[in-house]
Amino acid sequence: MPVDHQLGPAGSHDRVLDGGATAVAHPNIALIKYWGKRDERLIIPYVDSLSMTLDIFPTTTTVRLSPEAQADIVTLDGTPAAGEPRQRVIAFLDLVREMAGRTESAAVDTRNSVPTAAGLASSASGFAALAVAGAAAYGLELDPTALSRLARRGSASAARSIFGAFAICHAGRGVGAAADLSSYAEPVPVPEFDPALVIAMVNAGPKAVSSRAAMRRTVETSPLYRSWANSSKADLSDMQAALRRGDLEAVGEIAERNALGMHATMLAARPAVRYLSPASLAVLDSVLQLRRDGLPAYATMDAGPNVKVLCHRADAARVAETVRSAAPGCSVVTARRGPGARLQMGAGR
Ligand code: PMV
Repeated sequence: MPVDHQLGPAGSHDRVLDGGATAVAHPNIALIKYWGKRDERLIIPYVDSLSMTLDIFPTTTTVRLSPEAQADIVTLDGTPAAGEPRQRVIAFLDLVREMAGRTESAAVDTRNSVPTAAGLASSASGFAALAVAGAAAYGLELDPTALSRLARRGSASAARSIFGAFAICHAGRGVGAAADLSSYAEPVPVPEFDPALVIAMVNAGPKAVSSRAAMRRTVETSPLYRSWANSSKADLSDMQAALRRGDLEAVGEIAERNALGMHATMLAARPAVRYLSPASLAVLDSVLQLRRDGLPAYATMDAGPNVKVLCHRADAARVAETVRSAAPGCSVVTARRGPGARLQMGAGR
């Protein structure tokens, strides 16, 4: 198994130290999207999803136990966290403590190198890093599957960032404990497939509607949601076959139709959830034009206006230049497949 499919030494007990644990995780971009939860408490998705973990924008999180403290202290990019972001971290620590049979408070320090809440998967890298660091700090020995289940409880997309390169997240079956047990991510071993993902950040500010609220509204009110969820099953098996063949054109076509279908479900929600901005549409147009010119490039979009363009590595510079001129002022970065979440040795002590 290639190195980047493996989890770092997150589960080993001898690294559980009073000084705390530091973990690094990278965001992932779904080629087959997760949208909609059938259990909001356990965070059980309606649909399976499949993603590529990136080699850029890591999140670094340190969890340090502080038994004397009355409450958890959460710091996000050097600033004390408040409101919902703080509550989500504390709820996650409560879960880790329950699993570990421990009660101590903790200090959590998270550094994101990706703009938070801009539809660039900071919650994926964030909760993957928190799962790995939190489990180690509280002395929980979890294998990668169990870590991905744990990360899912923070954010379903985080389950996939436990693994490097390509990962599939199973939506799971049944209800309650059975659903929890069967909903986890695992690697999709395609060591030869190594495309570029050109990310056009047309707006790095926080999104108007959180993905949590947007997916709830879509599931509850969009008449298109069921049909997208059904077609997503076919997209997933087509995607797996295309990945096995290393067929970039097919991977891109399937990813693009799956993402645009997801946005169509949101546009049909009542009231509509619209993440696409004029700049996003300009980038989508430029991707179409590239294809007309014979260059295979395919777009995907998440819960925000930014557009990610899948292409051959050799074409990445031309794609970057094209999308930059389509949306003047946007910043463009190019990613490749990246590593899974791992403990950072020697740090956090
Ligand atoms: O896990 P969340 O709440 O960040 O939701 C992510 C949803 C999408 O990014 C739109 C799709 C996906 O599968 O990552």
